[in-house]
Amino acid sequence: MKVRAYAKINLALNVTKKRDDGYHDLEMIMAPIYLHDLVIVEAIDEGIVVESNNRKIPLDERNIVYKAAKLLIERYHINQGVRIQLYKHIPMQAGLAGGSADGAAVFKAMNKIFNLGLTTDELAAISLEVGSDLPYCIYNQFAYVEGRGEQISTFDGYDDYLILLVKPRRGVSTKLAYGTLDLNQCDHPDCHLMKEALINKDEQGVLLALGNSLEQPALALVPEIATIKEELLDLGFDGALMSGSGSCVFALTKNEEVFTKGFKEMKKKYPFVLRTRFKKDEE
Ligand code: C5P
Repeated sequence: MKVRAYAKINLALNVTKKRDDGYHDLEMIMAPIYLHDLVIVEAIDEGIVVESNNRKIPLDERNIVYKAAKLLIERYHINQGVRIQLYKHIPMQAGLAGGSADGAAVFKAMNKIFNLGLTTDELAAISLEVGSDLPYCIYNQFAYVEGRGEQISTFDGYDDYLILLVKPRRGVSTKLAYGTLDLNQCDHPDCHLMKEALINKDEQGVLLALGNSLEQPALALVPEIATIKEELLDLGFDGALMSGSGSCVFALTKNEEVFTKGFKEMKKKYPFVLRTRFKKDEE
């Protein structure tokens, strides 16, 4: 079974507090984009075999897809194994949920292959055991997300923008970004305003509400993120923000010329530059 594992961007990410369990409480506005990995899952006699076109990713129990498969096999006493092929296109350590999207794809595929009969809500709940961004990736729609990442309410967002993604060479470790976050110094965007702006197709409101608490620690780790944001705004994009815990930056425009020129200019300087759009619900 083939599943497209779509990346996400965070239009707003507000870290509200550090919890006693080591995680942070968040409020986020997340949206799926067309950039995706291809995940092929098939039943085999036994074991978990992971293969990939990307030589840099681990193929053992450190990989999120391995953890997802192991959890389902054990929890539902599945007496077979799986072979998982990962065709990676989403960059790693980018804040685009590349690993989480692949993990969510494995949950969805195995639910069908082994007739587990789990609902979307049930899949999302179990997937949280593998990582905080997996529940969102199970839904994969515009959403207001709270808690650690597991309280998800979807809505119809304004999706007309052209989106340019630019990632510097260096990535950001999510753990390190949260570990060096200073809640008194970082930005605290208003996620309710972002949601309202997206629902009301209020373009100015969307731009004003862009913000990410994790930019403060990520910028200290990878200063090129600030340079990329500045360059994108100078090229005429209406807004630019780091996604998730970084280091990928996304920029929004509705102007095809700005989009094309921006792509060409940034491509000269950075290793990952991609033109994409918000994924429409029907796809
Ligand atoms: O859940 P996941 O394994 O993706 O999280 C990676 C790390 O990011 C956690 O170990 C934690 O340090 C941090 N994190 C957090 N609060 C969240 C999500 C992640 O502190 N809501």
